[in-house]
Amino acid sequence: MAGPLILSGKDFAAGVRNALAEEIRGSNHRPPGLAVIMAGDDPASSVYVSMKEKACRKLGIVSTMRRLPAGVRREELLEAVRELNDDDEVDGILCQLPLPDHISADEVASAVLPDKDVDGFHPVNVGRLWRGEEGLFPCTPFGIAEMLEHYGVPFNGARAVIVGRSNIVGKPMAALLLRRHATVTLAHSHTRDLPGLCSGADILIAAVGRPRMITPDYVKPGATVVDVGISRTDEGLVGDVDFDSVKDRCGAITPVPGGVGPLTIAYLMSNTVKAWRHHMKGR
Ligand code: GUN
Repeated sequence: MAGPLILSGKDFAAGVRNALAEEIRGSNHRPPGLAVIMAGDDPASSVYVSMKEKACRKLGIVSTMRRLPAGVRREELLEAVRELNDDDEVDGILCQLPLPDHISADEVASAVLPDKDVDGFHPVNVGRLWRGEEGLFPCTPFGIAEMLEHYGVPFNGARAVIVGRSNIVGKPMAALLLRRHATVTLAHSHTRDLPGLCSGADILIAAVGRPRMITPDYVKPGATVVDVGISRTDEGLVGDVDFDSVKDRCGAITPVPGGVGPLTIAYLMSNTVKAWRHHMKGR
């Protein structure tokens, strides 16, 4: 029997980045600008931020970095955001999470101008997303929706179950699938009979961070399975989906690594270019 379709986010993201690089090269405008704020020295965040800077360099996006100490005052961080809001060379602003405990991520998200909010975390962009309007939307779920569309996964009338209700992945994923006419259920830690619910899904998206929790009893034969979870374990990086046992039951599946991971930065680049296009309009 032929195996499932492997949804390679790695290949798809490379195509997205190439198209963006070409658009930037062909433009007469100033290059796009992305400003990253990082408060503190979380080692994982440092790795992500360097990956973002490298991706910018390769595409011709000018990236600037504001490193602030872990003890930075709330007012000082908000002032940094305001300065970047006022900077005409900056199209996108991203404040790397997690922030130090004494600073509210919600307050920072709300301080970024909505049209520079390349994370899609500002309440205005959340509203635009749910209302079906144009806007900037969270990179990982946006990339997943675009990738599924690219691979020809049908959305219209499909039953989609998303496990995990975070503001960064689960909730925006629900809105994005709803916009594409799927029937969406958001499941979480209080959901009763999770395997029963998931096994009715044509599209199953796992975004909880519990290694290998999705086993074949959660999967409808032929379903599309997307693994957003990444957990660091003694055996290395492990997804929410038990790939080896699920792959023989599903129709399509994202691998870990090389599945959802590469989409996040590709769509951060895409959001930055989208914000830049908007800022360059009429110039
Ligand atoms: N830290 C982990 N994921 C993210 C993300 O998508 N955006 C930001 N700003 N920080 C993160």
